[in-house]
Amino acid sequence: MVALIDRARHWIVMTTPSRRQPNIAEAQPANASALDVMNTLPDPDWYEQVNGVEGPTVYTDPENAPVRILGIGGTTSEKSWSLVPLDIALDRAAAAGADVVRATVYELDLPMFRTDWKLEQYPPTLPWLLDQIRQADGIIICSPTYHGTMSGAIKNLLDMLIFLGWDKPAYLGGKPVALMAYGGMTSMGVLSGLTQVVRGLKGITVPTHIAVPERAVDRERIEITDERVLDRIDEMVTELMRFARQLRQPHQAPNIPPRRGGVR
Ligand SMILES: Cc1cc2nc3c(=O)[nH]c(=O)nc-3n(C[C@H](O)[C@H](O)[C@H](O)COP(=O)(O)O)c2cc1C
Repeated sequence: MVALIDRARHWIVMTTPSRRQPNIAEAQPANASALDVMNTLPDPDWYEQVNGVEGPTVYTDPENAPVRILGIGGTTSEKSWSLVPLDIALDRAAAAGADVVRATVYELDLPMFRTDWKLEQYPPTLPWLLDQIRQADGIIICSPTYHGTMSGAIKNLLDMLIFLGWDKPAYLGGKPVALMAYGGMTSMGVLSGLTQVVRGLKGITVPTHIAVPERAVDRERIEITDERVLDRIDEMVTELMRFARQLRQPHQAPNIPPRRGGVR
């Protein structure tokens, strides 16, 4: 993994924060559970300066700011081969002028999603991830192939995005998402599964998706040498960057007053 770390050094922001260094964003529906978000419409006051409620946090992307690309991938293990294609794609995006951030399953270290848990009950890596998604103009998701589809850990992470349900726009609202799978002969199932989840989250999948065969990764050099795979990664990243520039828009996260008596 040394080569990966060397390659990533020029990235502006690289990895998720350690769980020991909380980085809880200010504007989070921290006292809401997933059930609250699912079953309640957002209160308009949460987006206004009314009744003591602070205004929303608005993530704007000025015309001239670099495009921001968030990469999501990896497994519950520290060393994950599926991070190799993700890192190459992020590298290409950085070379094209993007600010890139990488969120790995291992570093996020999220528990299983629970509908009754409030956001504040999760480790601080979850609000960090939600904030990175809000700021992202484009996203790359790379999952290993597990029993013909995406890994449970990647799906678990994506289920957590229910906490973006009160945002404007909600969830991945109109953001372009590039999809990658890593594995053997059944990895197309990953891409089709991810396509459905991203659609469910109101994201827009970019046309070129990639099933990277395990044999394409040179495990000695920790590199992909197959030119066809590299060309396809280039094509995908070029599309993602173009859509990210064209579709970027302000993203609002609500501020919510504290609960009184435990019930809103
Ligand atoms: C639980 C499990 C299920 C797997 N199922 C498949 C599969 O259905 N098809 C396939 O091609 N590879 C399968 N594999 C192999 C993985 O795709 C491969 O080991 C993995 O992508 C390696 O990447 P990683 O180092 O990031 O885990 C499976 C691996 C595991 C651990």
